Amino acid sequence: MRITRAGWAVMTVLSTLIVAMSATYFRFDPETYFTSQRATYLSHRLPLYVHIFGAVTALAVGPWQFSRRLRERWPRWHRRIGVTYLLACLVGGVGALLLAPIAYGGAVSGAGFACLAVAWLVTGGAGLRAVLDGRVIDHRRWMVRSFALTFAAVTLRLMLLAVAAAHLDFRTSYPAIAWLCWVPNLLLACWFTRARPAAAGQ
Ligand code: HEM
Repeated sequence: MRITRAGWAVMTVLSTLIVAMSATYFRFDPETYFTSQRATYLSHRLPLYVHIFGAVTALAVGPWQFSRRLRERWPRWHRRIGVTYLLACLVGGVGALLLAPIAYGGAVSGAGFACLAVAWLVTGGAGLRAVLDGRVIDHRRWMVRSFALTFAAVTLRLMLLAVAAAHLDFRTSYPAIAWLCWVPNLLLACWFTRARPAAAGQ
């Protein structure tokens, strides 16, 4: 399955790059903040750091859960990393819900991020419930959907790069990106998990 393996490698590299970029927030230097939101973030530092701590952890560990080799060789580690991922989604998701009302771009952006946060919490919870009930195929399905939403952090930043490259207006593009960064990911994950229910990684 060469294409799936290449896809996994691209997903892991892109996720790791965004983790490294986002981790610069832990220098606690406001100069590194998203410029248009610097003043807002300075007055909402607690939810910002709660969100970034959880979200960065989820994006860092998530891709490794889809490596069949790691899952089969070290099943105990799959469980440990899985618990870390789900706790990280919970912390990142609660932080995201607190940040959504103050997101750049107003109510449309806020609603996009709030729906993403709810979908993130729901898919993670459904994945946990499925594995506790012993429904392994359902667990795979929900975890693919959950990570497709975590990966919105990557698609959002790729879209921001495209907006800059195409000289589009940032202010009007951002609210659309708050939805476009995750709805296609989720649809693709739903299609993939229906077409290949037993395939959850390379
Ligand atoms: C998947 C669910 C997620 C939701 C609902 C969400 C929501 C948000 C919201 C509402 C903001 C404030 C945006 C603004 O000021 O306009 C934000 C900022 C941020 N988020 Fe997330 N986020 C998610 C995932 C992630 C992930 C996985 C990462 C990991 C890298 C991440 C890293 C950040 C960072 C670093 C910021 C600060 C702004 C920036 O530098 O881009 N988020 N997030």
